[in-house]
Amino acid sequence: MVKAVVLGASGGIGQPLSLLLKASPTIDELSLYDVVNTPGVTADLSHISSIAKITGYLPADDGLKKALTGADVVVIPAGIPRKPGMTRDDLFKINAGIVRDLVKGIAEHSPKAFILVISNPVNSTVPIAAEVMKQANVFDPKRLFGVTTLDVVRAETFVQDITGEKDPAKTVIPVIGGHSGETIVPLFSLAKPSVKIPQDKLAPLIKRVQFGGDEVVKAKDGTGSATLSMAYAGFRFAEKLIKATKGEKGIVEPTYVYLPGVEGGDAIAKETGVDYFSVPVELGPSGAEKATNILGDISSDEKQLLEACKNGLKGNIEKGIEFVHNPP
Ligand code: NAI
Repeated sequence: MVKAVVLGASGGIGQPLSLLLKASPTIDELSLYDVVNTPGVTADLSHISSIAKITGYLPADDGLKKALTGADVVVIPAGIPRKPGMTRDDLFKINAGIVRDLVKGIAEHSPKAFILVISNPVNSTVPIAAEVMKQANVFDPKRLFGVTTLDVVRAETFVQDITGEKDPAKTVIPVIGGHSGETIVPLFSLAKPSVKIPQDKLAPLIKRVQFGGDEVVKAKDGTGSATLSMAYAGFRFAEKLIKATKGEKGIVEPTYVYLPGVEGGDAIAKETGVDYFSVPVELGPSGAEKATNILGDISSDEKQLLEACKNGLKGNIEKGIEFVHNPP
């Protein structure tokens, strides 16, 4: 039996993500939580004839506790999204506190659940979640994931313009690092099957993956950021994790993890100089079972991208940790 929970379920991401989770045969129970509108979203989704039994809660009457009790997987898309001209880091002020408080709830009511953080800035909100879990003595690094799947989905999609491959999801492209601008490092040299990208098209393609979110923010013109593609990406990661925990073998996905706590991660942390980093991770019954070190295989151009990534990430990670220990 799998119980999935969405925290921030009434939002732009939360609603389509909850729809996909409700429709998935891998989930037996789905619980929704938000500070607004959860009764409406829950009533609507409850009419869908799929397996998952659905419940929804607002903060009143111990709603968070009721939503989280018995949870196996908790996905967090709660928080404010970007408007044109904003970076993901601009969201820190509001979202840091939201994520901290929700993760406090997880530490108390479902400490063994897998936690999937979508709320931005992911580079900082994942360290925040880890520090909160550490303070409560329930941190298991194998169970905490920053969802960077949208960057992978974008890389698969955008490279199709060049390869002409009919089904974009058939090309596997590792995307490593973090989840904002230059900290996103797509590794087209390691695409499987390999792709031939003309030199003059490579730099614009990399930039498009790094700043693809800006295209959506601009097109939505002040009404938000990526929601539907993010719901797809968040669901794709959640479903793969659930399948892996149920025993399916060979599932490897890039995700932003606390490297020293994952097998194989120590060497990557030493090489990059950062403890939180997205790499392809083998998923299994205990969560993040093995981090794959592909740094030795990347091209010299990609090594340069990695330098910019490391510098950006360090500050983002420190900011998250500092927020928990010295709240403003
Ligand atoms: P939204 O504003 O449409 O929805 C956010 C929801 O969170 C709202 O329903 C709001 O009521 C709820 N919320 C606020 N405070 C809460 C609390 N304390 N407890 C529970 N729920 C709470 O925003 P949207 O577009 O759904 O984005 C959500 C987050 O996801 C943003 O931080 C955004 O930057 C991030 N995001 C992450 C991506 C990624 O690749 N990881 C991609 C796109 C967005």
